[in-house]
Amino acid sequence: MAFMKNYLLPILGVFLACYYYSANEEFRPEMLQGKKVIVTGASKGIGKEMAYHLAKMGAHVMVTARSEEDLKKIVSHCLEYGAASAHYIAGTMENMTFAEQFVVEAGKIMGGLDMLILNHITNTSMQLFNGDIPHVRKVMEVNYLSYVVMAMAAFPMLKKSNGSIVVVSSVAGKIANPLIAPYSASKFALDGFFSSIRKEYSLAKVNVSITLCILGLINTDSAMKAAAGILNLDPSPKEDCALEIIKGGALRQEEVYYVQSVWSRLLLRNLGRNILEFLNLRWYNMDKFINKEELL
Ligand SMILES: NC(=O)c1ccc[n+]([C@@H]2O[C@H](COP(=O)([O-])OP(=O)(O)OC[C@H]3O[C@@H](n4cnc5c(N)ncnc54)[C@H](OP(=O)(O)O)[C@@H]3O)[C@@H](O)[C@H]2O)c1
Ligand SMILES: *[C@@H]1O[C@H](CO)[C@@H](O)[C@H](O)[C@H]1NC(C)=O
Ligand SMILES: *[C@@H]1O[C@H](CO)[C@@H](O)[C@H](O)[C@H]1NC(C)=O
Ligand SMILES: *[C@@H]1O[C@H](CO)[C@@H](O)[C@H](O)[C@H]1NC(C)=O
Ligand SMILES: *[C@@H]1O[C@H](CO)[C@@H](O)[C@H](O)[C@H]1NC(C)=O
Repeated sequence: MAFMKNYLLPILGVFLACYYYSANEEFRPEMLQGKKVIVTGASKGIGKEMAYHLAKMGAHVMVTARSEEDLKKIVSHCLEYGAASAHYIAGTMENMTFAEQFVVEAGKIMGGLDMLILNHITNTSMQLFNGDIPHVRKVMEVNYLSYVVMAMAAFPMLKKSNGSIVVVSSVAGKIANPLIAPYSASKFALDGFFSSIRKEYSLAKVNVSITLCILGLINTDSAMKAAAGILNLDPSPKEDCALEIIKGGALRQEEVYYVQSVWSRLLLRNLGRNILEFLNLRWYNMDKFINKEELL
């Protein structure tokens, strides 16, 4: 009872207050004007729509994916739409050397970096898990490991600019569903890694924001193809989804929920996890890690 009175109730109050009053700042498209932004997986789908939104907001846009022909067209459209600059570097995120060098090269071309939007995934079909271990490894490397590699390569630039990392994830990265085990694992991994890193940045007073985006079904060609005849769910529009991701990143929100049902949005937020994460910090003595710049 004493525990409830001393800890639980005040903490619950604080969290509920945060839930309902966190939309303190309004998004303005000018927030992205002149900002240097990387978008991965930008040859189609949500990534392409994000590149176009950023171009219209006057950002410097750097896109990547494997299909060079598609990227070329997207870059020229970005310039038409008003991008401060637009470039592409094509390559595969199966190659961690490419992932790292791409970020470094992008930083050289744009002269720094304000926002890293990690969005690409290896193609996935919906099926029962059949023991295909090489596929699990590929999914973890492309969907997860390359994100970590790129975030670390971008860190020095993001620290300098008080920048942002935006990680595109899925409802399948918060709750379990059948037919997408390897994909789901890679998205859960992103949550584990980037949410942990966010705690470290917060404790070490590193002003780089991390936004994890939890998306429901979106009407991209690949998702529609994968879900056809399996998922009876209305998809949301990719253009609007792309805009909400950019808004969340610009407002430095910890998480973005782009799902249709209000109930899902509320339950996915997982108040229990938030309370435990907050309380667990009590057991840590962080002194020897804080203010040691070389550790970050
Ligand atoms: N659509 C949905 O319903 C939905 C739902 C929840 C979450 N999400 C998330 O939203 C993000 C975008 O999804 P989307 O539906 O827009 O996907 P998409 O249309 O299939 O686009 C995937 C992008 O990743 C690139 N890509 C694929 N393999 C690659 C590789 N090996 N190396 C580098 N780039 C590669 C593709 O380009 P190339 O083929 O040219 O390389 C493409 O640009 C993903 O993180 C996804 O998990 C989507
Ligand atoms: C991986 O990428 C690097 C840098 O782009 C490149 O030099 C190397 O040849 C690539 N490796 C493979 C196996 O393609
Ligand atoms: C992904 O695409 C490649 C080439 O288009 C294809 O060979 C592979 O079977 C696809 N994988 C899945 C899991 O759909
Ligand atoms: C980053 O934020 C700090 C305060 O946290 C501020 O002193 C500094 O000027 C900012 N730098 C840039 C480039 O905005
Ligand atoms: C972190 O950086 C952002 C963007 O430059 C700035 O608005 C914010 O005030 C900074 N926060 C702190 C705590 O310095």
